[in-house]
Amino acid sequence: MHRLTVVRQPTLAMILMLSLILAALIGPAHAQDSTPSPTPDDSYPNAGLLVETDWLADHLDDPTVRVIDLRSTDAYAEGHIPGAVSVPVGDIASTIDEIALEFDQDEVQAALNRIGLMPDMTAVLYDDLGMMNSARLFWTLDYVGHADARILNGGWNAWAAAGLPASTDAPTIESTEYPIELQPARLITAEEIVARLDDPDVVILDARSPQEYTGEVALAARGGHIPGARLFTWLDALTGGDTVYTVESGWEEQLRDEDVEVFKSAAELQALLDDLGLSPEHEIITYCHTHWRGAHLYFLLRLMGYENVRGYDGSWAEWGNRDDLPVVTGPEPGGAAGDTALLDGEQLVQMRCVGCHDLNRIDHQDKDRAGWENTVARMIAYGTPLTDEERDAVIDYLAETH
Ligand code: HEC
Repeated sequence: MHRLTVVRQPTLAMILMLSLILAALIGPAHAQDSTPSPTPDDSYPNAGLLVETDWLADHLDDPTVRVIDLRSTDAYAEGHIPGAVSVPVGDIASTIDEIALEFDQDEVQAALNRIGLMPDMTAVLYDDLGMMNSARLFWTLDYVGHADARILNGGWNAWAAAGLPASTDAPTIESTEYPIELQPARLITAEEIVARLDDPDVVILDARSPQEYTGEVALAARGGHIPGARLFTWLDALTGGDTVYTVESGWEEQLRDEDVEVFKSAAELQALLDDLGLSPEHEIITYCHTHWRGAHLYFLLRLMGYENVRGYDGSWAEWGNRDDLPVVTGPEPGGAAGDTALLDGEQLVQMRCVGCHDLNRIDHQDKDRAGWENTVARMIAYGTPLTDEERDAVIDYLAETH
């Protein structure tokens, strides 16, 4: 009996300890959420990722909340949310190898240090571009392993429209050394996408305008979309303000006027996502031209409870300019997704013969059909994924053209 008591007491104590630790862990988040905000729709599966103006107004003095202004430095100087720090989007993304708005770890590190962000803090992001800059930082923070980032629904315009105070003072911030822990599951490269083009568990979403998707407007060497990609133009997620495609002139000015663009209701968004045939089990890849609009879609998916989302940072600025990558034009997703029989020999070569060597290995070859049969058989032995039918289509194509 005595023994039992001895065993029991620590067990109870441990349970108590555990609940205390749990309470401490969950506590701060709950404390923040305990101020109910009259969210127009708090039924988003991940509603905590979006905050409304009154929630933010109640948390301006909270030392664990860092408010980040992603508008231009000029707009910030004219007046910003009291206590907010300025991080123009150019401070967290740069042109690398001629690809615009690329993630650069050193640059992001410097920005996070400068604004004194630490992992246990809540980052609240706002801008004046339909929440696009905020979304880009949101994705970046996901990628560097920051747990708690939220976006102000409606951004600066919502704050101004609510008649809340503005300040011209920049807060004094003690800089920190943010411990970045890159989360590879948040980013995907072109090579990884190529390898997954046939994967039924993967859905690629294109956040650009319909014109860029079809190829009618080409902002890179080639127009069109990634084979199989489904279109979800980013602005379709918003309501209450301007819906202007980024291929139209003056789109930035239109978004910056006094209209307040906010996210559509959870029910409306869910219907749009269901139309795309999405399920939370899918691994979803988002892209646009620079993963700016793509980041907006990335945020939307996270808000709607899709956890397995990866941003393709290179986006069309890379894909459309690399002639070794397959492209589909027109309004249909096309490509390999679900129906490999649709691929012709040329598409198969572009999609399957990459990864080990450049496609130009195929050029300047003068083989007869038997020669290509021999080569392709060797490539299959090395691991090139081709069914018998696809192998024949590839050999036909190569024998005819090379
Ligand atoms: C899994 C990696 C891999 C993939 C995928 C791949 N190759 Fe190769 N390829 C190789 C290697 C390794 C060599 C060099 C060794 C050799 O020639 O056997 C090579 C060499 C070649 C050569 C030069 C040698 C020759 O026979 O003329 C050609 C042409 C070629 N590949 C074409 C293709 C084509 C066409 C495809 C798609 C059907 C393809 N490769 C896919 C690995 C790959």
